[in-house]
Amino acid sequence: MESLDDLARACEERRGQVSSLKDLEELRVEFLGRKGRLAQCMLDLPGMSAEDKPTAGRKANEIKAALTEIIEGRERELAAAEAGAALSRFDPTLPGRRPQQGSLHPVTLVTQEICDVFAGLGFDVVSGPEVESDWYNFEALNIPPEHPARDMQDTLYVSESIVLRTHTSPLQVRTMLARKPPVAVVAPGKVYRRDSDITHTPMFHQIEGLLADRKVSMGDLRGTLTAFVRAVFGADTRVRFRPSFFPFTEPSAEVDISCVLCGGKGHVGSEPCRVCKRTGWVEILGCGMVDPNVFAAVGYDPEEITGFAFGMGVERVAMLKYGVNDLRMFFENDVRFLEQFA
Ligand code: PHE
Repeated sequence: MESLDDLARACEERRGQVSSLKDLEELRVEFLGRKGRLAQCMLDLPGMSAEDKPTAGRKANEIKAALTEIIEGRERELAAAEAGAALSRFDPTLPGRRPQQGSLHPVTLVTQEICDVFAGLGFDVVSGPEVESDWYNFEALNIPPEHPARDMQDTLYVSESIVLRTHTSPLQVRTMLARKPPVAVVAPGKVYRRDSDITHTPMFHQIEGLLADRKVSMGDLRGTLTAFVRAVFGADTRVRFRPSFFPFTEPSAEVDISCVLCGGKGHVGSEPCRVCKRTGWVEILGCGMVDPNVFAAVGYDPEEITGFAFGMGVERVAMLKYGVNDLRMFFENDVRFLEQFA
């Protein structure tokens, strides 16, 4: 009985010396642990007389409660002291962390810039559906069923007659059906092709252009595109037309600009230019004079109206403009890439 009282007193004395939660745990083990001091005292219990046993048992329980209270009380004191210390370490004069600032995606930035240039030349900006009927995407553009150009396009079909548009050219058709000439529009938007590797993504962006009026010539096309190229890539940029083929334009051309990296020299210092592969030129768009069959499909008189159309890949223009050499960057949404356009 004596030693039980001693136990509580000893614990009470020691509690003041305990200055950390770790030390306190040691104290708890020493007094309340399975082989601790209380457990040792209890070893005498079985040998006691029948009258003493209940009193001793009750006493032991009281002491156990008292020890627990001493230790838990100290635990609360220590926890409060540590919280207080943490608070005093908090320095309200430190500068805060700024929330990250968002930015427009480079594809959006380039789309806006290109549309602004054409708006400045008098073009309207229009848009249309990404899920398109075969007629708008192909037939009205002089691409009949079974035409080999359909293979070239890697079409994603929704049903037999509905496709995900493979280019923005259906906007030529939609515009001319909705408006009388003269028309001058650009149409930015997403296009889809069944194609995926390091230089192709199944979705990418194009900007279509169309101008139709009386007496539009290929010279107008060349002048318009030259103005656009110089506005976006700089006044020294040179432009060349290479003969090409599209079913909806005749004649057709692909347009190259003098290489944005080497300035058309084909090399940077003594190294061959990695952007133009030594040629000094990079392709940026396809274009041509609107085919009379397209005018006929939309009810314009091919005898009276001529026009030009062009289509360009926005990611391609963005890569050239910003010196991005991997198309996938535009689709990964890595903040370290995107924040450079803020
Ligand atoms: N639609 C063509 C393509 O996706 C580009 C183009 C548009 C060519 C308009 C000529 C005229 O490749």
